[in-house]
Amino acid sequence: MSVNRPNQMPRHLTSLDDLTPNELQAVLNRAAKLKEAYRNGERPQLFSGYVLAQLFEKPSLRTRNSFEAAMVQLGGGGIFLTTAEAGLNGRESLADVANVLTSYSDVVTLRTFSQQLIEDFAHHSKCPVINALSDDRHPCQALTDLLTIQETFNRIKGIHLVFVGDGNNVAMSLALAAAMTGLKFTLAAPNGFEMPAEFTGDLRARFPDADVNEVTDPFEAVQTADIVYTDVWASMGQEDEAERRIAAFSGYQVNQALMSCAPSSAKFMHDLPAKRGLEVTDEVMDSGSSIVYQQAENRMHLARGLFAWLLQDGSDD
Ligand code: CP
Ligand code: NVA
Repeated sequence: MSVNRPNQMPRHLTSLDDLTPNELQAVLNRAAKLKEAYRNGERPQLFSGYVLAQLFEKPSLRTRNSFEAAMVQLGGGGIFLTTAEAGLNGRESLADVANVLTSYSDVVTLRTFSQQLIEDFAHHSKCPVINALSDDRHPCQALTDLLTIQETFNRIKGIHLVFVGDGNNVAMSLALAAAMTGLKFTLAAPNGFEMPAEFTGDLRARFPDADVNEVTDPFEAVQTADIVYTDVWASMGQEDEAERRIAAFSGYQVNQALMSCAPSSAKFMHDLPAKRGLEVTDEVMDSGSSIVYQQAENRMHLARGLFAWLLQDGSDD
């Protein structure tokens, strides 16, 4: 196992599209092993002296801090900057920022509005670049959710995840994760809030066997759910649309009435942050079926697995 590969092209995670299904499984395996070691009190110092740089245009509790905690646990440290501090507000070009920042860093995470910005940054980067959320994708959330599903159900293939809400960045990354793993994915969304047709068309063309569906009736959809999943109705950057979205999603709240239509064994998942009282009630968030804090903790375990895979393994072994 080689540590860092300065003479090789870095691998990136700008989207799950950057991984093959076998590589995705290898990342999950690495994370699960590191989590088990962590539970046994082990913190292998794989990346002593390594620098994680994080450049965020949007707020974050889980992603920013789980990545930094993960790198510290592995022996390295983190630096954090906003796009204004990085000079991405017009002070200098993206290519110059990427070239300079990645000459100080071993791995970079980016949280942006534009997915293209992350892909362009990766193009100029000397080290692995990880998408820490864009308007279109949230690959680390989807990988973490697969880890949580594997832990909870002892398998991923054939498990039915019903996502009740907006066909947003989290939904799209979960749909892609489903296509790559055999998870069954159903989005229950009001008309006009489906995943973009270009995305689903491309997904179906690339993964003809994918069990990825879109419906409008959440009560019918959850009847065969192993997992009922939701996310905010207005994502970061859509604050101006909040009122319109609250009206559009009024029949899509995950509450006890909806959960009672799902099998009693069904789990509740949410990537967080949650707007309690809107997309989900306190009763469901705090119920015995809810595994939202396990999901949130797993962001840190997934982050260590992802760092290890990107910086050391970079293959599907
Ligand atoms: N789930 C998630 O990405 O949370 P943050 O926005 O707090 O990072
Ligand atoms: N869809 C949400 C996810 C937050 C983690 C957003 O983009 O704001």
